Amino acid sequence: MNKNDFTEWLKKTKDFWSPTTLLDAKFGLIYVDTFTRKILDEEELEKLWDNTTERDTEKILNGMSISKTSTVMDVGCGIGRIMKPMSQKVKKVVGVDVSGKMIGFAKEYLKGINNIELFVNDGNSFPEIQSESIDFVYSMTTFQHMSLKGVIENNIKEISRVLKPGGKLKVQTRGYVSVPHGLDADWKRGDDISFAGAILDTGLWDTILESSHMKILRMTLNTNVNWLWIMAEKNGNKYVKR
Ligand SMILES: C[S@@+](CC[C@H](N)C(=O)[O-])C[C@H]1O[C@@H](n2cnc3c(N)ncnc32)[C@H](O)[C@@H]1O
Repeated sequence: MNKNDFTEWLKKTKDFWSPTTLLDAKFGLIYVDTFTRKILDEEELEKLWDNTTERDTEKILNGMSISKTSTVMDVGCGIGRIMKPMSQKVKKVVGVDVSGKMIGFAKEYLKGINNIELFVNDGNSFPEIQSESIDFVYSMTTFQHMSLKGVIENNIKEISRVLKPGGKLKVQTRGYVSVPHGLDADWKRGDDISFAGAILDTGLWDTILESSHMKILRMTLNTNVNWLWIMAEKNGNKYVKR
């Protein structure tokens, strides 16, 4: 990745994901629906937050086998929306996020929960996380905002490093599966570098995962929101290609 692109990307990304209040984080940057936000009062919004969080947690866990012995990781955890219910189901949840502000609010939102760890990262790597220490990595509404292909590749490489052999990944990204352009394109077309994610076709996802010693188990396209869900597994023997 070009060093200047990366420096600009990191600064803009950190600035973009910097809410000033917890409420702003929740309903300005994470649950973004300006129309709904106008017509509901705060209590109704909180109920909607809880319901959608429960629905999203179920979606993430669907088809996964985790237990009270599992260590799981949330990439782009925000304020820890999914980490909260997840922490009740597993041994430990590790959350990383490129935004120091988000991690600050996560500490407030997850106060009193002891089986969690939170780290601010550089949007590309997880240096604090030990190799082969995680059973399951998940990521929701985060990869869809990674505007450089190199950032996506770096994250997948790091996810593979921290996963135990046979460990699983479930990631949600943008679903325009047949668009032939769009690697770093949204940004190059003039969209906001820090918000609009690169669009990768399914073949490229396969290549990126395979070069990080992972294989796709299932891909599901959610057409109403245009989300692509990818479930993948780290190879049991990381040096053997499938
Ligand atoms: C829309 S929020 C979603 C938060 C959380 N995943 C959820 O579902 O509630 C996107 C989050 O991804 C983080 N983020 C964006 N790009 C990232 C990157 N390259 N690495 C780590 N975090 C990133 C942002 O700081 C923000 O907290």
